[in-house]
Amino acid sequence: MKSKASAPGKVILFGEHFVVYGVKAILCAIDKRITVIAEKTKERKISVKSNIGRLELEKNTPLSEINSPLKPFYYLANKIIRNHETGIKIIVESNIPSGVGLGSSSACCVAGAAAISRLFADTTREQILKLAIEAEKTIFQNTSGADCTVCTYGGIMEYDKKNGFTKIESQPNFHLVIANSNIEHSTETVVAEVKKFKEKNEVEFSTLCKSESELIEGVLKALKENNIKEIGNKVIQNQQYLEKIGISNNKLRDMIKIGKNGSFGAKITGAGGGGCIFALTDKLNLDNTVKQFKDNNYDCFSVRIDFKGLDTF
Ligand code: PMV
Repeated sequence: MKSKASAPGKVILFGEHFVVYGVKAILCAIDKRITVIAEKTKERKISVKSNIGRLELEKNTPLSEINSPLKPFYYLANKIIRNHETGIKIIVESNIPSGVGLGSSSACCVAGAAAISRLFADTTREQILKLAIEAEKTIFQNTSGADCTVCTYGGIMEYDKKNGFTKIESQPNFHLVIANSNIEHSTETVVAEVKKFKEKNEVEFSTLCKSESELIEGVLKALKENNIKEIGNKVIQNQQYLEKIGISNNKLRDMIKIGKNGSFGAKITGAGGGGCIFALTDKLNLDNTVKQFKDNNYDCFSVRIDFKGLDTF
């Protein structure tokens, strides 16, 4: 018997980094997905095959001995089959670029938790999300859980550390053009650098948090009114705050300049230091924005919001 599940990637539209200090962030799922197929095997091993590598281990291998980005799959499989006389074979197919802040690891955790757990029981979305967050913690201890949440439920949501997530009911019809700097970043390292910046500049940082909070309230209003031009202005403003906390660099600035040409606004998405930026467009300025990136030899693709979230087969 096989079990199959797929989950979308995500972008942080607003509020990255400030969310670590209690400010609200706005995230959405995107229509790029990871699919995981899980199958019980007689051999009592756990094996994972994906486009970023392979992993094959005996059951009950200590997690501390595993140094692989596929560790969350092992964690999930080992936890779920602990009391069963079986092994598991997992195949991962992805069309989300990895390591650039588009939620590929969260989508793996969500689709993995669903595909593996559903070999044994009819798990609910809530149970799958809980498992997925546990699995993500094996590679990023301090995850807020926001990424796994949006990958599970899809759509657009606001998130803050204290109150968790709230789905935003509006269904904006914008397009995002995502350009990839192809510089892999470590979220943990960039978050640690921002912490240092905060400790050196407490007053400036707290003013920025306040400004970001106000900006987010403005975005929520503009989303209700489907005012894409105003959302674009907020994108530009949010990028200025990210510049101030030092997570940008020359390549990202060049990409943002190109993205702003013709779109409603462009900014870094996720941790920064590398990774991706997005430009906010509608149907009319989509092709031109893509062309501008391509003319300047940047990798880019357009996405829309995914409203489905986790899908099981
Ligand atoms: O690199 P990403 O897209 O996973 O983004 C990390 C977002 C931060 O706000 C920088 C960290 C966090 O845990 O929220």
